[in-house]
Amino acid sequence: MKRFVLAVSVAALALTACDEAGSGGSGGMVVGFSQIGSESGWRTAETNAARTAAKQRGVDLRISDAQQRQENQIKAIRAFIAQGVDGILLAPVVATGWDPVLREAKTANIPVILLDRQIETQDPGLYLSSVTSDQVLEGRMAGDWLVKEVGGRDCSVVELQGTVGSSPAIARKKGFDEAVAKAANVKVVRSQSGDFTRSKAKEVMESAIKSVGGTTICAVYAHNDDMMIGAIQALKEAGLRPGKDVLTVSIDAVPDIFKAMAEGDANATVELTPEMAAPALDMLAAYKKDGKAPPKWQQTPTKLYLQDTAAAEYERRKDLY
Ligand code: AHR
Repeated sequence: MKRFVLAVSVAALALTACDEAGSGGSGGMVVGFSQIGSESGWRTAETNAARTAAKQRGVDLRISDAQQRQENQIKAIRAFIAQGVDGILLAPVVATGWDPVLREAKTANIPVILLDRQIETQDPGLYLSSVTSDQVLEGRMAGDWLVKEVGGRDCSVVELQGTVGSSPAIARKKGFDEAVAKAANVKVVRSQSGDFTRSKAKEVMESAIKSVGGTTICAVYAHNDDMMIGAIQALKEAGLRPGKDVLTVSIDAVPDIFKAMAEGDANATVELTPEMAAPALDMLAAYKKDGKAPPKWQQTPTKLYLQDTAAAEYERRKDLY
């Protein structure tokens, strides 16, 4: 009898633990995640963080990799609707063109939460909420840092933009332009897309060095760290010294940029957390439970890092995701 009581208590404890692991009752949910691809270290970290968050909550997370193509994302969303999932997480590769498929999800009563990128729509009722950073602020922070760093001297900047038509590329450009507009000595002399990838950004940087002239470039601003890593390679191959003769500022705060900063090849990065899925899953679970619509935007924190803490940040982050 004693053994039976013990077994029942252990089972009850296990159930409670399981329920707690389901943080807010998300356990048992089936959620589709239409992910953009794996264009950057940050993107891979976001996917891995989503897997961990789902596991911790007992959520069956179905991830579809769109290989950077909107049409693949639309197909994935339709497949999730056909599977009757409890919710959909969408990292939209570009900002426009989502209304028809989001309307289909709404008709099927499946809530959609946007992750890390915003969309442009006349009908915000088409998605439940969004978990993103303030991407204009990220660009502004990068620009403010550069303006302060160069002081009064003239500075020609090469800008490496993200994917054309994506919300971070649009917003990070806007924020940076706003910041440097306050300083007549800082001018963006070339601005081109590197598609958020190292290889494309390296090519763009190589051609910028040729056309603008390597020694006249005072700074590089990249919309993500991976593009900056590509640019650093191009600058070094051209005999220039990034982090010293050419200032660098980019966005994401991935381990590789901290390594470059610790080695003196890069100067600054603005952090974008890859922990987007955890709050989204909790929001979805709460909505499923009480039917109350959450705020349209859950903003993630933004922070600037410099070389002084780079080595420690690299050690802290290198095996995180
Ligand atoms: O949408 C977030 C951006 O997408 C990240 O800054 C970049 O690395 C990624 O590809």
